[in-house]
Amino acid sequence: MAARSERITMATAYDATFARMLEAGGCDVLLVGDSLGMVVQGLDTTLPVTMDEMLYHCRAVARGARHAHLVGDMPFMSYQVSPEAALANAGRFLAEGGMHAIKLEGGVAVADSIRRIVAAGIPVMGHVGLTPQSVHAMGGFKVQGKSRAQAAQVLADARAVADAGAYALVLEGLPRELAASITAQLQIPTIGIGAGPECDGQVLVCYDLLGLNDERVPRFVKQYESFFERGVAAVQRYREEVRAGSFPAAAHCFGSGRDGDADTAAASGQDAAQTFGKGEPVRG
Ligand code: KIV
Repeated sequence: MAARSERITMATAYDATFARMLEAGGCDVLLVGDSLGMVVQGLDTTLPVTMDEMLYHCRAVARGARHAHLVGDMPFMSYQVSPEAALANAGRFLAEGGMHAIKLEGGVAVADSIRRIVAAGIPVMGHVGLTPQSVHAMGGFKVQGKSRAQAAQVLADARAVADAGAYALVLEGLPRELAASITAQLQIPTIGIGAGPECDGQVLVCYDLLGLNDERVPRFVKQYESFFERGVAAVQRYREEVRAGSFPAAAHCFGSGRDGDADTAAASGQDAAQTFGKGEPVRG
């Protein structure tokens, strides 16, 4: 796509339903990001997220997606210890998680691990600039590369990732000019988040882009919907109807006849084979 000057649309996904929705909306790439620690698990950082948790969400996304390119995010300490450990964990994303590629954070320091993983036939997406797994070393979630020295370091990191064989690179939390300059200097596509429009693609956390976040919205985020507010309003209507006794209405009730039960079970999305007894749908 980058070669054809088509911008790449990437979003995070954490489950099958969101994967289907994001794909139906035309996302080219779905990233099962370790940001799930913050938006799904309610953590303050991504650091406690484990390999097993990542693989659980990867499998869910892989079941929902049909066409998108799927990238699994390697969690903290799954690749920093040694290139061998990095390769073993990267392999699990493809073998057990159903992913097509992995992403990991860092530049010069992780170049050997990227080389090792790529040599085993696993595509690697890099991630430099604001790298959330280094939140404590950065002193918070802060824009990187603002000073000349910092900018030179970010560029060196980007080059190291590309030279090690990564096929794409996330640029996060960088001044627009620096991200544009890195994009112009690298052969591989860059995907920006808080890095300006000159990148070859953009990525957003799906909860941010859909407005599922009721807390402070970072400046780089554009909310294309307000699902949180709309969800609250929907739940309020549901509660009112439950309290008033107007839900369930006749249309949501099972009849006592056999045919009626089969129809109703099918209409509520239950497979007829999943019913037993008098046609009650199996839930669990
Ligand atoms: O974990 C994540 O969601 C990410 C993206 C923000 C790039 O790394």
